[in-house]
Amino acid sequence: MTKSPLWHSQICEHHLHNNLFDIRVIDELSSTNGYLLDEVKHRRIVTPSCIVALNQTNGRGRQGRRWLSDSKNSLTFSVNYLFNRSLTESTSLPLVVALAIYDALNALHIDDIGIKWPNDILRQQKKLAGILVECANRTQHSSELVIGIGLNVGKNHLLQENVDQPLADCTNTEGVSPSREELLALLLNHLSLYFKAFDEEGFHQFKERWLTHCLHFKQQVALTLPDGSTTEGLHVDILEDGSILVRHDATLSVFHSGEIRLRSIA
Ligand code: BTN
Repeated sequence: MTKSPLWHSQICEHHLHNNLFDIRVIDELSSTNGYLLDEVKHRRIVTPSCIVALNQTNGRGRQGRRWLSDSKNSLTFSVNYLFNRSLTESTSLPLVVALAIYDALNALHIDDIGIKWPNDILRQQKKLAGILVECANRTQHSSELVIGIGLNVGKNHLLQENVDQPLADCTNTEGVSPSREELLALLLNHLSLYFKAFDEEGFHQFKERWLTHCLHFKQQVALTLPDGSTTEGLHVDILEDGSILVRHDATLSVFHSGEIRLRSIA
C-alpha cells in the first residue's frame, strides 16, 4: 500500500482479509475512475489495483452527472478487475458491487440501508453511495472493468447544499462513523470475494440476496427511461443480465437501464 500522511495504512491493513487489490493512496485526484482508466491504458498499473483519492475534485457520476465529495467525510476509490466474461456477460456486475457494499456496511452495523436498482445504496431512502462502472479493455471473451465507488462517510452540510437529492452518511446515533480506512478494507474484502464468484458463476448466486435487500421488490415503481419517458409497474424480478422485470396490467416488460423513483419517496 502506498503511503500518505493523511491515510492510516496500518488501520486499513489490519482489517484486510483475502484482499486481491494492490492499493495506491493519492492525496488529490480529479477522478479516480479517470486516473485508473488512464493508468490501465498506458500499462502503468497491475490488475487488480485500487486507487483511493483522499480528495477527489471532479468526480464522475452515472449518466454524465457529477459526483461531489469532500476531503474529510467521503471515501472515493476505484478498482480495476479483469473478468473472463465479455462485456455483455458482465452487465449485472454493478448489482453485485451494490450487494458487496451493502454487506460491507451491514458488517459495520450501519443500519437502515437498501439497494435501489440498478446500483444505488440508500440509507433511510437517501443516497449513501454511488457506483460507476466503465470499461477499460475488452475482447470477445474478457472485459477489464474500472469500478468506481463514492461513499458519504461523515456528515457534511455544505455538500448537501450543493446536491439536489437528499444525502445519507455512515454516522450512528451518536454521530460517530467508521474510519475511511476500515470502510475501504471491508469493501475490498467483499469485492475480492464477490468478483471471483461472479467471474466464475455469474449473477444467479447473488440474486436472492440482492432481491432481499432491494428497496422495491414486489412494489410499485416509477421508472424514468434513458429517452426521458416514464413508465410505472410492479417490480416482479431481476434477470441474470441485471435488467429489471416490471408488470403493468397484464404486460411484462424488461428494462436494461433507467432510473427508479420509489412511490414512497416524494
Ligand atoms: C452515481 O452517479 O451514483 C455514481 C457515482 C460514482 C462516484 C465514484 S467516486 C469514485 C469514482 N471516481 C469517479 O469519478 N466516480 C466514481
